[in-house]
Amino acid sequence: MQQLIRGRVLDFHADPQDTADNHRFWEDGAILVDDGRIVAVGDHAELTRDGLEEIDHRSHLILAGFIDPHIHFPQLQVIASWGAQLLDWLNTYTFPAEAEFADPAHATRMAGLFLDQLTAHGTTTAVAFCSSHKASAEALFSAAHDRDMAMVAGKVMMDRNAPAAVLDTPQQGHDDSAALIQAWHGKGRQRYAITPRFAITSSPEQMEAAGALARAHPDCHVQTHLSENVDEIEYTLSLYPKARDYLDIYEGYGLLSDKLLLGHSIHLEPREIARMAETGSHAVFCPTSNLFLGSGLFDADGLRAAGIVSGIATDVGGGTSWSMLQTLAEGYKILQMRGQKLHPLAAFHWATRGNALTLGMEAEIGTLAPGSAADLVVLDARATPAMALRMEKAETLAQELFILQIMGDDRAVAQTYVAGRPQKAG
Ligand code: GUN
Ligand code: ZN
Repeated sequence: MQQLIRGRVLDFHADPQDTADNHRFWEDGAILVDDGRIVAVGDHAELTRDGLEEIDHRSHLILAGFIDPHIHFPQLQVIASWGAQLLDWLNTYTFPAEAEFADPAHATRMAGLFLDQLTAHGTTTAVAFCSSHKASAEALFSAAHDRDMAMVAGKVMMDRNAPAAVLDTPQQGHDDSAALIQAWHGKGRQRYAITPRFAITSSPEQMEAAGALARAHPDCHVQTHLSENVDEIEYTLSLYPKARDYLDIYEGYGLLSDKLLLGHSIHLEPREIARMAETGSHAVFCPTSNLFLGSGLFDADGLRAAGIVSGIATDVGGGTSWSMLQTLAEGYKILQMRGQKLHPLAAFHWATRGNALTLGMEAEIGTLAPGSAADLVVLDARATPAMALRMEKAETLAQELFILQIMGDDRAVAQTYVAGRPQKAG
């Protein structure tokens, strides 16, 4: 059944950093949706007709739903854990929390709550690390599939340097990943990401197995972590003494490609940057996490100038907010510290079409182009009294977007649609 979703519609077709012709905006716009897909986008007057069901979101903005390309499903109760940098934080808070996901009942309960938090914050697709337990990935895929929500996820492969309760083995990690690919990759809107957690927690044998999976399934994403924290880098290089640098470990196991998502990618050597660019590998900027864990300041302009296409993500629970708006706010501040500017149009492009490009999924998500899934976020820039007060002085779309970027969170998300279905009551 067709329906028309009406509001102030904003859609990006190019990166505002590349060209002035980057978006279209309809002040009285509408999106025609049929069976979860976008059929047309344009002026309301041109798309309306007698008998068509209409949902009116004026005076709110409607954009493609946010995409979060790096988040940890089993860390939804780890967020806001005090006082540690990466390696201590993993050992003290994160691994114990992930151990609970061995229990399928816990994983199933948390999967529903995880998807509820994503959509409450306007995020319609996430790329998620699960725990090392196969059941955690099954729970997440199953819940996302039930909601027709596009999820890219994988069970983490980790066979050392962590408590036994969160470890697999090279063989088990390989076989569970292969079984999950068989069961879930390409089922409805679900996709698999081969997920060696990072080089510290994977032995050479396990990295070998991850490489074999990537060769056998070249259409799966691969996700891991790279150069987040200086102590992490030192420890990593001590474990792989023959590697030229951190990236060289992943390179040696054949993991570099345009399917590879490298969370954090902060403290990079020139050789690493060049190899990421040559292989099309992607960095993923996680600003709230990088500040919270004291990790460092991501070099967005430097990586872009080298030809790397980067994503921007929450990294919950190292990240401190589920909100891509708050993520863009902290991203803005980190780039200020580096003398770089994140323009609001570039910011909203990044969280939507930009992240879709990072995933190679721009035909399916990230824009309002006909044929895309009707995954939408409806934003209210007057959601709080302080925002409404500030909005009295906003004169342009860019100013409105910047108010959302800096002051917004889930309160500014009036509605979220996943495959055309509203996710919020009222
Ligand atoms: N590096 C390896 N695992 C993790 C994780 O769970 N969170 C973050 N922020 N970095 C990691
Ligand atoms: Zn992470």
